[in-house]
Amino acid sequence: MAEEAAPRKKIILSGIQPTGVFTLGNYIGAIQNWERMQRDYRCAYFIADLHALTVRQEAGKLRAGTLSALAQLMACGIDPKKSLLFVQSHVPEHAEMSWLLSCHTQFGELSRMTQFKDKSAAHADNINAGLFTYPALMAADILLYQADYVPVGDDQRQHLELTRDIAVRMNGLYGNLFTLPEAYLPKQGARIRSLADPTKKMSKSDPNPNGAIYILDPPEVILKKVKRAVTDSEARVAYGEGKDGVNNLMTIYAAVTGRSMNEIEAEFAGHGYGDFKQAVGEAVAEYLRPVREKYAAYLNDRAYLEEVCKEGAAAASAVARRTLSKVKKKLGLLMK
Ligand code: TRP
Repeated sequence: MAEEAAPRKKIILSGIQPTGVFTLGNYIGAIQNWERMQRDYRCAYFIADLHALTVRQEAGKLRAGTLSALAQLMACGIDPKKSLLFVQSHVPEHAEMSWLLSCHTQFGELSRMTQFKDKSAAHADNINAGLFTYPALMAADILLYQADYVPVGDDQRQHLELTRDIAVRMNGLYGNLFTLPEAYLPKQGARIRSLADPTKKMSKSDPNPNGAIYILDPPEVILKKVKRAVTDSEARVAYGEGKDGVNNLMTIYAAVTGRSMNEIEAEFAGHGYGDFKQAVGEAVAEYLRPVREKYAAYLNDRAYLEEVCKEGAAAASAVARRTLSKVKKKLGLLMK
């Protein structure tokens, strides 16, 4: 990177499924990084609505969820003027490329995907072909944009490895078609854990309604959830072994106030968990206020959201088309 005179900005790409609301953990651990990366990289962010179809969705909910996900990303600072921001199904090149890649992906490779095994166990009544070929669509998402980096959580790492394998294989067969994407290891924002079970990460799909704080939760809900958070019987605000619950609340408080653990310990010396939780709840509610407010404003401006979708799709398609044509030509499809 450094030796080039005027290095082009590296390309970062990531997708999210339009299911549910981001948690505070998603926001602090990932989305804020996406926001910051807009300065140093060319970023492409999209709503993976086609991927969502691998499990049954209710049409109206999926539609609303897609618009909501878009508004959430924008409320978190993803700026359609700086980044490619689009809805996957609006860019037909993804589905088309996915077929071409499927024909270069082995049954055995797809069978080894742990997410496929987990999801087919969880949805035994709907083990559809899309669930199986999901990684080929994800590879299409990534390779179409010649992405250098893909910020992925552990659950998607295997899919990214497969994407690289497909790219290496096709580059070998047809000449250089694709940039090899690497996992982007974020300067990890703090890892936030479930309030109900601090040994697990805070997840969108936490079965316990008090486990996760969502970025759109109103202040009173945030306060209530924090007050119910699991702690310990020590009644001492200090970071340490065996204090997962308190450690987690301190991590959250540190992330939203910018204070160090030492400062937090000093601030609450001699106070019980009640005072501490009150302060954490209020600080989180305040921290998320701009996100809540921007979200509401975007969601109320349907025309603007539609314009963002339209322009995002056109810009993404222009990039995707270039790669797709190159691949089609190399594979021997007759060009029109
Ligand atoms: N499969 C990812 C998930 O469920 C979403 C996704 C789809 C994605 N395409 C992608 C992520 C491309 C990164 C790059 O979380």
